[in-house]
Amino acid sequence: MTDLRRFNGQVALVTGSANGIGKAIAQRFAEEGAKVVVADLNLADAEKTVSEIVKAGGQAIAVGCDVKSSAAIEAMIKTVIESYGKVDILVNNAGDVTISKHFFETDEAWWDHFLDTNLKSQYLISRLVAPLMAKSGKGCIINMSSGGATRSHRGMVAYDASKGGVEAFTRALALELGPYGIRVNALVPGLIATRPEHLADGAGARRDATIPIGRGGTPQDLAGPAAFLASEDAAYVTGSCLVVDGAVLVQQRSPQIETFPVSQFPSVDSL
Ligand SMILES: NC(=O)c1ccc[n+]([C@@H]2O[C@H](COP(=O)([O-])OP(=O)(O)OC[C@H]3O[C@@H](n4cnc5c(N)ncnc54)[C@H](O)[C@@H]3O)[C@@H](O)[C@H]2O)c1
Repeated sequence: MTDLRRFNGQVALVTGSANGIGKAIAQRFAEEGAKVVVADLNLADAEKTVSEIVKAGGQAIAVGCDVKSSAAIEAMIKTVIESYGKVDILVNNAGDVTISKHFFETDEAWWDHFLDTNLKSQYLISRLVAPLMAKSGKGCIINMSSGGATRSHRGMVAYDASKGGVEAFTRALALELGPYGIRVNALVPGLIATRPEHLADGAGARRDATIPIGRGGTPQDLAGPAAFLASEDAAYVTGSCLVVDGAVLVQQRSPQIETFPVSQFPSVDSL
């Protein structure tokens, strides 16, 4: 829980915010005074998230939306404008990580699913929201990327390609929207546990051992960075991809082949 209320009077639209990282970001914006739109494919979970936000003293509405559909996006934005009249902060978070397949076993529908869900949706939603922001002279767009944009996952050729596109899209959009007072940035999460299976049967401990900072991430680890990017403290930050990953991306050797393991580091007592 934060004491800051940096977003009083603002409206934040967070896609894919019924669960996981998007939910933590939506909750954080609500705690800081924003009216939040919880837009998600899963309307039942979106409504639960809204109940939690309202119970905690915040304001939010749930909107069902499949971000793969331009018609559904148009309907969602219409509802947002009818309900709250504007969008100050857009977080293009909705994404699918779930279907891993070897390249040889994939098909066009698989490729289109990831590119449409993770990348094209960000274009379609920004295309409708940015003109509204431009008319008010300011706005902030945050696109959810992944470490997969830079270092690849096995079985996720289309996912990683979509996230590489997210980072290029973010930089390009920042150039075109800067003159209208709109900042565009990306968040680059590392290994964030959003489901119980991520931590089951010792998976959490095995994962923690591979992360330089010593632990895997939680959805809440992305909430503060998202709020920073949307805040006036980030007034000069645009076109950037903020990595939030406990130093996973900058690690050259995997821990299994590390020649200078943490166990050989000096103890604090010896300093
Ligand atoms: N969890 C991680 O380790 C991790 C790492 C890097 C990047 N990311 C990115 O963060 C974002 C959120 O991931 P998460 O781990 O919180 O996922 P999650 O599966 O926990 O939650 C994703 C939410 O998005 C919704 N969603 C999925 N497809 C949708 C669609 N077509 N339309 C609308 N809503 C849809 C789901 O219903 C769900 O509520 C994604 O863009 C993902 O690629 C996650």
